[in-house]
Amino acid sequence: MDAITSQIGDLADAGERMIERLRRKAFLPESRKGLNVRFGIAEAAQLLGCSTNRIRMAEEDGRLPPAPATDSGRRVGYTVDELLHMRDVLGASPARAPLDVPAIVAVQNFKGGVGKSTVTTHLAHYFAVQGYRVLVVDCDSQATTTTLFGFNPHFNITREETLYPYLSIDPTQADLLYAVKRTPWPNVDLIPSNLELFDVEYELAAAGADGQSVLAARFRKLKQGLIDLARDYDIVILDPPPALGTISLAVMQAANALLVPLAATTPDFCSTVQFLSMMDQVLRQLEGAGIAVDYSFVRLICSKFDANDPSHAMVRAIMEQSFGPALLPVPILDSAEISHAAMRMMTVYELEKPIGTPRTHKRCRANLDEALGQIEQLVRQGWGRVAPAREEDVLSVAAA
Ligand SMILES: Nc1ncnc2c1ncn2[C@@H]1O[C@H](COP(=O)(O)OP(=O)(O)OP(=O)(O)O)[C@@H](O)[C@H]1O
Ligand SMILES: [Mg+2]
Repeated sequence: MDAITSQIGDLADAGERMIERLRRKAFLPESRKGLNVRFGIAEAAQLLGCSTNRIRMAEEDGRLPPAPATDSGRRVGYTVDELLHMRDVLGASPARAPLDVPAIVAVQNFKGGVGKSTVTTHLAHYFAVQGYRVLVVDCDSQATTTTLFGFNPHFNITREETLYPYLSIDPTQADLLYAVKRTPWPNVDLIPSNLELFDVEYELAAAGADGQSVLAARFRKLKQGLIDLARDYDIVILDPPPALGTISLAVMQAANALLVPLAATTPDFCSTVQFLSMMDQVLRQLEGAGIAVDYSFVRLICSKFDANDPSHAMVRAIMEQSFGPALLPVPILDSAEISHAAMRMMTVYELEKPIGTPRTHKRCRANLDEALGQIEQLVRQGWGRVAPAREEDVLSVAAA
């Protein structure tokens, strides 16, 4: 290798050292990320759908432990763990009934940088705050989602901890249980990823004439593995890579719902149309090969929407015209709070206090709750908890 080419490796090394420094700074001394968010009693009551009085009474009569307070008696609010316990005691858990099918949502678009990983992680933490049991599966070898959960994919994750041993051409695991990791969130687990997951794609190319059967086997495997795991969760969220490859195809097939993020820009709109058309072709081919794909909902969500940018409003109008009600009405707003949180390898739901002004933070959080709440509604419709709009109607209006 000549001197200039070998500099690429030096750049990578320098970058890796910096990532590790940033991570150490962002996390606790034992370099394990903690979760320190707390909820005041009014917010807790709102989340549980009960009165503050009901919580106080349960604390007084001993059904719940006393409200957490500092030594000086100041109330400090409830942790996510305490909220979960409160839900159990007060019968306020939103969890699905045993026979309800867990939602397996693919957050997918072949366009890069549209916000897939941002939506995946915020969706996971939104559902967790609401009291659901969540599994996040990082299917992208870039491992952004893994990083946002506080793991350094390069240093903390080995190939054996990713989907690889299960999806490999020479599998060393028969189910996915080995890969499930706890996260700082008591009700969110993660299957992490790292660069080596990309070997799954290489192997297929090397399989030559056997490629088709390898591919079909992987489709079946990912779907079955996730269905088995999903028994312990209300929602499974899949973050696939931004390209049409083996893993993307397997994700498409394993999911039972599809969420497509895109920014309100012309390039994102055009690429997303291409993505939908490619997806349509793939789904038809799969069907022809006897592989059924069945989604309970298909929605597009505008990510990074800037209300102050007239071009965003224009492109959003075009998107509305094209997609009708398949485009979720509330977009995720572009917010410095989201990008600042990402710099600290966190989601907005993990911030103990605002990074920007309290107003920016509050606005961002309220928007996320509303935008992601739309997806919660769709998931609950699947369980018959909310009267559904007929999915066929939504999509046919969109197509008209
Ligand atoms: N609503 C938002 N407000 C501000 N920044 C955002 C928002 N959504 C995403 N971003 C930023 O945009 C960038 C791309 O987002 P993200 O990594 O989620 O996209 P992606 O689709 O997963 O990308 P890739 O295709 O590389 O996997 C990130 O820097 C992220 O912090
Ligand atoms: Mg991503």
